[in-house]
Amino acid sequence: MARILVTGGAGYIGAHTTHELLRLGHEVEVVDDLSKGYAHNVPEGRLHRFRLQEQAKLDELFASRPFDAVIHFAAFIAVGESVREPARYFANNTGGSLALFESMQRAGVNRVVFSSTAAVYGDPPGTPIHEEMPLAPVNPYGESKLMVEKALNWLARTTELRYVALRYFNACGAVAEFGIGEEHDPETHLIPLIFRAIRTGEPLTVFGDDYATPDGSCIRDYIHVADLASAHSCALDHLLAGGGGGCFNAGTGRGFSVLEVIQAAERVTGRKVPYKTGPRREGDPPALVAEASRLRAQLGWQPRFTSLDEIVASAWSFDARRFGS
Ligand code: UFG
Repeated sequence: MARILVTGGAGYIGAHTTHELLRLGHEVEVVDDLSKGYAHNVPEGRLHRFRLQEQAKLDELFASRPFDAVIHFAAFIAVGESVREPARYFANNTGGSLALFESMQRAGVNRVVFSSTAAVYGDPPGTPIHEEMPLAPVNPYGESKLMVEKALNWLARTTELRYVALRYFNACGAVAEFGIGEEHDPETHLIPLIFRAIRTGEPLTVFGDDYATPDGSCIRDYIHVADLASAHSCALDHLLAGGGGGCFNAGTGRGFSVLEVIQAAERVTGRKVPYKTGPRREGDPPALVAEASRLRAQLGWQPRFTSLDEIVASAWSFDARRFGS
């Protein structure tokens, strides 16, 4: 059993990880300003509502309990918004992380698992993407996360801090027993938008059908949020056992096109997905698929969800509970 501080634990991936850590018997406290997340995602009595830049409150929380480690999710995640408001993204994502690391250092807490992203690779030269490929973000969101990875690297070289940065590919699905799922406002992610199209009859727009992929639509690596949560728990165990850190892709190693995800949703729901083809979305690389063996080999991670239909089905049952479709 460890005492863990989770930042951003009211968000989609943070909340699933919080529930998973509690299920495993860890002691968990959550910091979240609720600017994007939801209080109903956090188990009763564990939420501390403030921003990471409110350092006096952070210091007070660290002084109140002897935390063994931090899992740091708190960040803005919308790529398009980051292009429109880069300063806000750097201030929140990079600035917030640095404030957290300062408080951790003052409190003598020196283990952290960090939410990074496949967006650090930008438009990669090929696929699957391995961790040593060039880091060349194509938007402020990816850059704001890469800057944190670089800061962590320096902290690990110069202080006692040890870290694991998990570079997420496309998180999706939900865990029914936790009673939570994917809720973003506005929603920009493919699977919830497919369900919205089924429910409302308003067609989904497939962003581009002229990519150099077998069916012309973009390919992504869809990873179940339960498997992402377990990747955090493996990273935590590794750090607490004295392991060194580094950066790890968190993906399945399998890619599916937008049209294949639509077909999976039709199989799972038994309903037609109304869709039309539109222009490419700016900044979308044709294919992002992880080379995910490092996470398995070095952190002992074993994903449970191997079929796209199973992943889509778990997202659909959350959607049906939420909207009653
Ligand atoms: N897509 C559509 N129509 C839509 C929405 C999405 O065709 O209405 C397509 C996108 O073009 C893309 C795929 O569906 O090919 C997945 O799109 P998402 O928006 O669900 O996810 P992204 O791959 O754009 O983004 C994910 C994370 C980001 C992260 C990024 C890193 O959600 O937080 O991967 O590459 F930054």
